[in-house]
Amino acid sequence: LDNGLMRTPPMGWLAWERFRCDIDCDHDPKNCISENLFMDMADRLAEDGWRELGYVYVNIDDCWSSMERDANGRLQADPKRFPNGIPHLARYVHDRGLKLGIYGDFGTHTCGGYPGTTLDKIQTDAQTFADWGIDMLKLDGCYSNATEQEKGYPLMSQALNATGRPIGYSCSWPAYQGGLPPKVNYTQLGEICNLWRNYGDIQDSWSSVLNIADWFFTNQDILQPAAGPGRWNDPDMLVIGDFGLSFDQSQTQMALWAIMAAPLFMSNDLRSIDARSRTILQNKGLIYINQDPLGIQGRRLIKEQSGVEVFWRPLSNDASALVFFSRREDMPYRYQTSLKKLNYTAGVYQAYDVYQEKLLPAFKDSTDFVVSINPSGVVMWFVVPTKQMMGDGKLFGGDR
Ligand code: GLA
Repeated sequence: LDNGLMRTPPMGWLAWERFRCDIDCDHDPKNCISENLFMDMADRLAEDGWRELGYVYVNIDDCWSSMERDANGRLQADPKRFPNGIPHLARYVHDRGLKLGIYGDFGTHTCGGYPGTTLDKIQTDAQTFADWGIDMLKLDGCYSNATEQEKGYPLMSQALNATGRPIGYSCSWPAYQGGLPPKVNYTQLGEICNLWRNYGDIQDSWSSVLNIADWFFTNQDILQPAAGPGRWNDPDMLVIGDFGLSFDQSQTQMALWAIMAAPLFMSNDLRSIDARSRTILQNKGLIYINQDPLGIQGRRLIKEQSGVEVFWRPLSNDASALVFFSRREDMPYRYQTSLKKLNYTAGVYQAYDVYQEKLLPAFKDSTDFVVSINPSGVVMWFVVPTKQMMGDGKLFGGDR
């Protein structure tokens, strides 16, 4: 969507995967969906180095609202859990240099059973969100059918635009239509939405991450051309820092999401995240690659019999990113290949190992090399033709 927003994949934090629809503030005050949770996360984003890296969205998901609209037919936050109201929360977030996202659902109800946005409510709700100072809307699609969605999603895009407030627009529409043509029209999605959920919900497990990655790369010929500045495929949240992924699997999720030019919405507890997960999520090379201004989504190049897969994403200034991923379950696998086998032809290259944070000595595209890839882990390289390599350490340092 050409609204000037999200020219690189949006980054931030989203409540759903980790905090779901926990509304029991009496017994679980720290984790329930309430203004306190979002203020806590805003504090962490602002104070723990996230904001400077680009993680600026604080996004509310389902279960924020009251069970009823107000007397004027407007959505309202649950008065007990958001006693100061959403506008207050928006100010709190904005004061910290962050942006506030909210969740709505095109349909009679949200997936969690809260008031939905039917066709007749689209303008009202868009205006309410704008009045509140909202910066991004995720519009889910529970409790509406394909015919209604064909009307509703474009209408909300127009309604948000008509408010005059810049509001990033995330559409769950394709996920409800199977994510593939002919039911899904990616040209149209790129015109009306800034990002869209193509596929099912992520869960806190390696099988879920793998299932999602497999679906996106299996369908890359359809999905890859749909992405670009202002319009992104969304494979769903990062679950790094939660309970389901090992360290290597966490590195894999981050690497594949960077290759996919995916939105980076963490759903974790930033108040208690462990140091290793934080290091992965705050890796400057990873973020630099994810945020490349060309906004070209990457692809899977090779699926080896051995269980190794190679992914590639072209970046600005003739650079590129490579991910060597192992689906093996035995031991670190020594994978041998050359850049020439991966379609590189510019002669001599240098590679920077993004997780090891090490610059490797220059080598020819024809020279075979070996990478040692951990089980369900990755090796990730940032690759440039030699003449263009800047000094080690300065690679991802400054502004673009
Ligand atoms: C759907 C969405 C999720 C989340 C829940 C909330 O399942 O896909 O991302 O928003 O609804 O109920």
